[in-house]
Parts: sequence; C-alpha cells; structure tokens
Amino acid sequence: MSVPGSERRLTVRHFRKGSGPYVCLTAYTTPMARLLDPHADLLLVGDSLGMVLYGLETTLPVTLEMMIAHGAAVMRGTRHACVVVDMPFGSYQESPQLAFRNAARILTETGCAAVKLEGGVEMAETIRFLTTRGVPVCGHIGLMPQAVNASGYRTQGRDDAEAAGVTEDAGAVADAGAFAMVIEGTTRSLATAITRAVPVPTIGIGAAPECDGQVLVSDDMLGLFTAFRPRFVKRYADLSAAVSQAAAAYADDVRARKFPGPEHCVDPPAKT
Ligand code: KIV
Repeated sequence: MSVPGSERRLTVRHFRKGSGPYVCLTAYTTPMARLLDPHADLLLVGDSLGMVLYGLETTLPVTLEMMIAHGAAVMRGTRHACVVVDMPFGSYQESPQLAFRNAARILTETGCAAVKLEGGVEMAETIRFLTTRGVPVCGHIGLMPQAVNASGYRTQGRDDAEAAGVTEDAGAVADAGAFAMVIEGTTRSLATAITRAVPVPTIGIGAAPECDGQVLVSDDMLGLFTAFRPRFVKRYADLSAAVSQAAAAYADDVRARKFPGPEHCVDPPAKT
C-alpha cells in the first residue's frame, strides 16, 4: 500500500504479490492527476479517455497520439504514483515489433513507467517481446473493451469453458513477464481463483474484492461521467451535480449583472 504524501515515485517493482491491496485509478489530465496522485499507487491513463473525455462510443478510435499527449499530461501532474499508459487499439496487435515501436514511443515521449495492453494467450508472445526488451507491461484480461466488436461488453467466465479460457489467459500473461494484470468484468469466483493462482498482482475492475488491487475510472467514482454507470461502480462523490449547480449560479449572477462584483473589479484610484 502507498503512504500518502511520500516523495519517491513508485515503480513497477512496488507491485509484488502479497503487498497489496493496491489503489489504482484512471487519470487523463494534469489537474486531476495532481488531486489523485497522493492517494494512488498506480494511475492508469486508460484508453477509456476516448469515451469519458471525447464522447466516443467505444475505445477503438483512440490514437497513439492521444495516449501520448494525455500520458505526458498525467506525468506532469504526478510525483508519487506509478503511471501506466494504455496501448490503444491497432498499436500492438499486428506484431511484437510494431508493439515495441509504439510502446517505446509511449515510454520515451511521456516518461511513464509501463504500458498496459489487452489480451491473453494470443498476446503472450508480444508481452514477452516487450518485457525482455525493457518495456514493463501490465496485462488486461477478462472483459476486454477493445474486443467489443467480437465479444461485446459482458461478464466473462460464467460457464466452465469460458472460465478455463480466462484462467489460461492469466497464466500466459504472467508467464510472459507482465508485472501485474487487470482482470475486468469476470465472476467473483473466477477473479479470486486467478488471484490465488498467478504469481503477480491482479487489479480488479468489476471482478472481486479478493484481487490484489482495485482500479476504477475516476470519472465514474466521482460522478462526473454519467452517460452510463456500470453495476460495479461505487460513486464516492456527485461532481456532475456540483458542476451544474456552479454553472447555474454563475449564469444567474451574469444575467443579473452581479458578476463581476466590486471585490472582483479594479477601479482607478480616486482623484484628490
Ligand atoms: O481504459 C481504462 O480505463 C481501463 C480500466 C478500466 C482498467 O482499461
């Protein structure tokens, strides 16, 4: 676990089996990263930013340039948390070599600690290629939003065959050298069994409290993203209501010519 306010930035070596639970949140911008940094072990610049910030329907159109720009912004706002940046759809699936070129751009142009990519057995060779060449990788198994066109957004592992497949994915990702893995949208029993079986920390989202850490999309947790609310999200604040109230109060003041008030204006010095 992290010590809020500690000065040294955490690296991937902080994430060890048995040393959690790890606090993980998404961050996309400098000001939000500054607010979250003292409380988080890991800040993820997730490709969910496509839906949350850009109003896209899926994460698929998110580009490498978007991830690099937001990754660099989050790095500028942090000094404590380990920052991990998502590899967007199309930037790594084609070949390990392409994945390395793009991961290297993410690491060098943002200064982040690691990349995250979605996939299990089919991505193991790529994860190994990256991790043996100095690119720390966080895996992402279970529900994989970049596979929405193939699998939809549905809980994984409800039947034995599917659970066996996700378990195999977890083993392959760990064997390939990932320092941790996100488990998204699985049954609780499956995420718990995988957490017990793999030698690296698991970070759950819509999975199980037994995982070695938890991650949430910060805008969901803060009640800022209201387009939809996944079942597993707990809202710790209602910031969208606070923003609406503040904007309405400002609009009332402007229309009533009450803003700027005398305390916000500079008058010329009185002539003597
Ligand atoms: O893109 C993202 O924010 C993620 C988390 C939800 C794990 O992958």
